[in-house]
Amino acid sequence: MNLSIIYYSTYGSNYQLALWAQEAAVALGANVRLRQVQELAPQSVIDNQPGWKAQQDKSKDVPVAASDDIEWADALLFSVPSRFGNVPAQFKQFIDTQGGLWSKGKTINKAVSAMSSAQNPHGGQEATILNLYTSMHHWGAIIVSPGYTDASIGKAGGNPYGTSVSIDASGNMVEDVKDAVVHQVTRLLSIAEKLK
Ligand SMILES: Cc1cc2nc3c(=O)[nH]c(=O)nc-3n(C[C@H](O)[C@H](O)[C@H](O)COP(=O)(O)O)c2cc1C
Repeated sequence: MNLSIIYYSTYGSNYQLALWAQEAAVALGANVRLRQVQELAPQSVIDNQPGWKAQQDKSKDVPVAASDDIEWADALLFSVPSRFGNVPAQFKQFIDTQGGLWSKGKTINKAVSAMSSAQNPHGGQEATILNLYTSMHHWGAIIVSPGYTDASIGKAGGNPYGTSVSIDASGNMVEDVKDAVVHQVTRLLSIAEKLK
């Protein structure tokens, strides 16, 4: 199975979710591409925020996502922080530059699942994933949400649309979500295999 994990992360939480998913998928024998979307913020803004700059430095070797990462993949796992209940502009820009791929039918029947984070438990975690899934309907993708298919989902806060996590004022994850990430990517790969 070819899996592309495509994320955006300002402070590192979604990067960590993506790394956990990558680790689990590799252990399952999948071919994995880990990709970050293109940053759009001016470098001067990033340089003035130590947390943002640190994350940029930490992930500098992660390649930037391209259309081929979608075309190549049997399964897609996205991870994005909430921005007022929606996906970040950086991620939206990536989605909005896939019109060429979409028009050739190359987004059809991809198995897709998504993860998210927000500062507050009710700060947009579910809405962000659902807003992302709206675009996936337009792609003709097959949305693979976790539902309540495993006990790890309840332990992670119970978001049936995808693993999501609250981030405290120090930037730490509040809920214990690693097992839910592992379950989500395992389920995604298993459904992608059935589709193939
Ligand atoms: C412009 C902006 C809008 C945000 N909107 C919300 C929000 O409405 N509710 C909330 O709980 N957190 C909000 N956040 C907090 C982010 O969701 C949080 O920093 C992010 O989930 C951390 O993920 P990361 O470490 O991968 O960047 C916002 C952050 C920014 C920068």
